[in-house]
Amino acid sequence: MRVQVAGTAQSGVKIDCSSRIAVVIDVLRATSVMTTALDNGARSVLPVTTIEEAETVFKTSDPACTLKGGERHALKIDGFDFGNSPLEYKRALVAGKDIIITTTNGTNAIRNVQKAEMMVLACLRNASAVVGFLIGKNKDVVIVCSGTEGKFSMDDGLCAGMLLHLLKEKTPVEWDDLGFLLERFYRNSAHDIFASLLDCFHVKRLLSLGFHEDLKFCFQTDRSTCIPMEIDGRFVRMG
Ligand code: MLT
Repeated sequence: MRVQVAGTAQSGVKIDCSSRIAVVIDVLRATSVMTTALDNGARSVLPVTTIEEAETVFKTSDPACTLKGGERHALKIDGFDFGNSPLEYKRALVAGKDIIITTTNGTNAIRNVQKAEMMVLACLRNASAVVGFLIGKNKDVVIVCSGTEGKFSMDDGLCAGMLLHLLKEKTPVEWDDLGFLLERFYRNSAHDIFASLLDCFHVKRLLSLGFHEDLKFCFQTDRSTCIPMEIDGRFVRMG
């Protein structure tokens, strides 16, 4: 299996994904949020890139079963039901609902690889499940680390490294230089993920905003068997 790693949402644009599986990662926090919403029974998650697009889609949706979530500058958007904390997406609120989500980086990364043959979302919580899915498909893969405002982010890189590490244990993997580096980063960090990411820009920003519990939640590994799979622009739960 050949695996290419894109270090930012923007670099995903340049990659031809048409015959590959795209795996989009935004550990902090978009793909952790989407995985959690589906884990807690949401019917679907629809990522959009702007607040205006979220409002437009909402107007044409059934208000009884549609909710809006996401962030700007890591904070809840005025008039939306949820921010971008996975802890907000509780079963009692999301079960059976379609959730429109817009975030600064993660939803752009998703949009940038929408031509992929297949797209799934990964975070630390569902990494093993995603690897099981990729092994089953046995196709070439593009891992897109969303990053933070055009820059590489260590949390996404660590998750990409975890995926590569788990893949390598089960199948021969041909990876690029970035993949090589990230797999080693994961191996050096797996014993204490939180401590390994304390110097990450986005971790520091979320800590300064009081999102310590979000970080603890997002840094847990293998708590979810959910594979968010894209079907006609929406993500639904597989697994
Ligand atoms: C994003 O997609 O930009 C992030 O999820 C930002 C955040 O942590 O709120």
